[in-house]
Amino acid sequence: MRAVDLIVKKRDRGELTPDEIAFFVRGFTTGEIPDYQVAAWAMAILLRGMTPAETYALTLALANSGDRIDLTGVVPIAVDKHSTGGVGDKTTLVVEPIVAACGVPVGKMSGRGLGFSGGTLDKMESIPGFRVTLTTQEFLEQLRTVGLVLCGQTAELAPADGKLYALRDVTGTVPSIPLIASSVMSKKIASGAQAIVLDVKVGVGAFMPTVPEASRLARLMVEIGRRSGLRVVALLSDMNQPLGCAVGNALEVREALETLHGAGPEDFREHCLHVAAHMIHLSGRGTSLRAARLLANEALGSGAAKAKFRALIEAQGGDARVVDQPDLLPQAPVQVSLMAPKAGNLARADARVIGMTAVALGAGRARKGDPIDPAVGVVVHARVGDRLSAGAPLCTVHAAGESKAREAMEQLETAFRLSSRSVPALPLFYRTLR
Ligand code: URA
Repeated sequence: MRAVDLIVKKRDRGELTPDEIAFFVRGFTTGEIPDYQVAAWAMAILLRGMTPAETYALTLALANSGDRIDLTGVVPIAVDKHSTGGVGDKTTLVVEPIVAACGVPVGKMSGRGLGFSGGTLDKMESIPGFRVTLTTQEFLEQLRTVGLVLCGQTAELAPADGKLYALRDVTGTVPSIPLIASSVMSKKIASGAQAIVLDVKVGVGAFMPTVPEASRLARLMVEIGRRSGLRVVALLSDMNQPLGCAVGNALEVREALETLHGAGPEDFREHCLHVAAHMIHLSGRGTSLRAARLLANEALGSGAAKAKFRALIEAQGGDARVVDQPDLLPQAPVQVSLMAPKAGNLARADARVIGMTAVALGAGRARKGDPIDPAVGVVVHARVGDRLSAGAPLCTVHAAGESKAREAMEQLETAFRLSSRSVPALPLFYRTLR
């Protein structure tokens, strides 16, 4: 077999066999197939697509490119969640402690921010001392003893996906449904998940801008899960405006803590409880989704979820005092608010523009490995559909300096639009696929 023949076959709309896909993935994992051929192959897939059978074969080849964690015997059932990436999406920080507090152990391997979308590891690292690099042994031990782990993926887990993703990021080949589906599901399979709630984001601040496209992605991932013997539920949720108010690492941790204390933005709390209920239900705890939701409400309301989050921080070497003293989190020296120039109904709070602004402030990276500033970001004060008076705050920029703040304010002026007509609120969720 030659790599070039497989590129040509895909370019000419051919269907690759599982052996051909496994050959290609093996080749680029070992370095025998060079990056330029991998990039050409990814572009051929983006343009020509893949059949469900090809996508499933690619998922397995990526999952089998490194170690696979076996969680049978460690937890009764390994439940996980995955968000396809969004702006202000700090859901994991609240959902996982709720689920763990309901007696369902959660060991989650998360990623870093990519483009305008944030990453859980960057958020958790804004907690002083918190360590995201764990060995597989440490991961398993903490899952057994604390029932909650939040760490980075080890280099040995689905390494082919890491390589392919890095290339896709710089060759315009990220927004391909089969490539996203196989990337997400390969990591879940390799990390030992048996039941997964997929939070598939839809809107201007997501990879999938429309409900039909997001539904295609969700359906494909549910199908891959079914073929692999996993229980999968996909929730399509809105990402036209940021989730909650805070965008930026320490700012998001602060908002997650407020939520764990029983406050926080209402839409964010509702989103977290809904995702948590699905995870609890998939695990078999809670005889119905409604019963699972009651368990989730109880875990949040009683403070049990907050206690779990504290235990998680302690277990991973972080300063757990932040739970009750969020001012210990990094704070930006400059804070400036953008006001509504006139009265009106908020018709747009563009998640992509707000996410890009947060990245430009230093909350995200232009290139892999760039340092980030945990303190900076944007806090949005209004939701689409809100009636605002002239001079009401739209958002507050948290910046490292005056000039950065000025640039951000200019960028943010394009993110908001006020209308004289009444505007309906955006839905939190669009559909559920099983
Ligand atoms: N998240 C992933 O893990 N992979 C993708 O390809 C896109 C989003």
